[in-house]
Amino acid sequence: MMTNGHAQKKPDPCSFIIFGVTGDLAHRLVIPALYNLAATNLLPDRFCIVGVARGGMSNEELNASLMKGLRQFATRPVDETVAKRLFECVTAVEADPKDPDSFDKMASELKEREAARGTGGNRLFYLATPPGAFLPITKQLARTGMLAENGYWRRIVIEKPFGTDLDSARHLNAELLKLVDEHQIYRIDHYLGKETVQNILVLRFANGMFEPIWNRNHIDHIQITVDEKLGVGHRGSFYDSTGALRDMVPNHLFQLMSLVAMEPPIRFDAHSVRTEKANVLAAIQLQSEQEALHNSVRGQYRGGNIGDTVIEDYCKTTDVKPGSATETYAALKLIIDNWRWAGVPFYLRTGKALAAKRTEIAIKFKQAPFAMFRDTPIDQLSQNYLVISTEPTEGIELQFNTKVPGPTIDIDGVEMKFRYKDYFKAEPSTGYETLIYDCMIGDNILFQRADSVEAGWQAVQPFLDAWKKAGGAGLQPYKAGCEGPEAANALLTRDGRSWRKLS
Ligand code: BG6
Repeated sequence: MMTNGHAQKKPDPCSFIIFGVTGDLAHRLVIPALYNLAATNLLPDRFCIVGVARGGMSNEELNASLMKGLRQFATRPVDETVAKRLFECVTAVEADPKDPDSFDKMASELKEREAARGTGGNRLFYLATPPGAFLPITKQLARTGMLAENGYWRRIVIEKPFGTDLDSARHLNAELLKLVDEHQIYRIDHYLGKETVQNILVLRFANGMFEPIWNRNHIDHIQITVDEKLGVGHRGSFYDSTGALRDMVPNHLFQLMSLVAMEPPIRFDAHSVRTEKANVLAAIQLQSEQEALHNSVRGQYRGGNIGDTVIEDYCKTTDVKPGSATETYAALKLIIDNWRWAGVPFYLRTGKALAAKRTEIAIKFKQAPFAMFRDTPIDQLSQNYLVISTEPTEGIELQFNTKVPGPTIDIDGVEMKFRYKDYFKAEPSTGYETLIYDCMIGDNILFQRADSVEAGWQAVQPFLDAWKKAGGAGLQPYKAGCEGPEAANALLTRDGRSWRKLS
């Protein structure tokens, strides 16, 4: 992980090979992140970018396209000298898994390029491609020896989704592991590139005061919310076969949940941290399909307005099947079966076309046990929440009760707020810088291991199965721009709890 304030080491010389270089991900995030690393002097001294695309493209065409993307998506003003230096090391090659010969040709072109740039043989293959291409590409890279670690490191970066359910995730992992070792695979979840998400570990384990109360004795429940304002937009085809649960829960929401709920690792290294994260996901109670239906709510948005934006019915979105039963909102109640969390519900919710963009983990502490203040009954005391948020602002907030000034003991809830931007001056970033840098230095602490990916799918599988069987029955409509389906409230009110309000 990048450590602000300490000198950061430069990665070893390497080639950065991007599959799907003409696509949105490469232009919008990968190249701007490489640019930010170049601007902060964190790229290797000897470095080259090789863009792999199907259908011939000249170096000049690729350069021009990447430069255009950088101007559009850069998170900071583009320094022409830095950009020129970055792009002069870009070359285009053509390779298509349907044409195995093209990979043999690519292998020799790559060697020539490495010799010309003096990068040695370290290689990072970034698969910015649709998931169906992960295995075919890796098979060809392995067949042509491009992934063999003979004195050099060879790594492969894979973006989500890692499968679409437990079986497909197991299959993908098993097939990949026939071709490369686990230590060579970097499964990216961009939530782990967010500062506040990384800060959960620091908050918990670099401070002495939270850990003693971080358990079932003091915590009533935990709410994890990832609300989005945007609808599905132009991603109708992908989204309609995916839905809110697959798109967000076993990956992003479980990253948040595992960091909040994991046991302290014995060391701050990849093996120890990833083991504890996998352990806690594996401890999520497996629900029967009936329990899953009881402990979940799924919704689908109807037309509405969010500010000035008019959102049409989900089912009228281009490439969405009319009458689709795909959920655009999911809320779940999960229980972790271990000594720390037994009996503490974790409520998770995520959805599209909601009133606000908000990402937060709210830890609700138990109420004070005794009504000492006669004029304010215990149930009217404000709730004690510790809220860790990444949207709309990155920060941490503590809610507690205090005395209202005056001669009588009146009590009111107040908030103590820490916002990153008030304390630290950080350049805006894509969120991919740390992840790409870590890949180059071989630190996989922020990447997902096969076992935690599978443990995540295992926990959501009963919900997927139950919802599939139920079809459209039980799918709750909600108006775009609201806080989600009414039924999501019932999931908590029946336990005597309620969601935190959005505003
Ligand atoms: C992606 C999902 O992985 O994460 C998108 O596919 C979602 O549907 C996005 O919008 C949310 O990311 P963030 O960083 O904006 O919360």
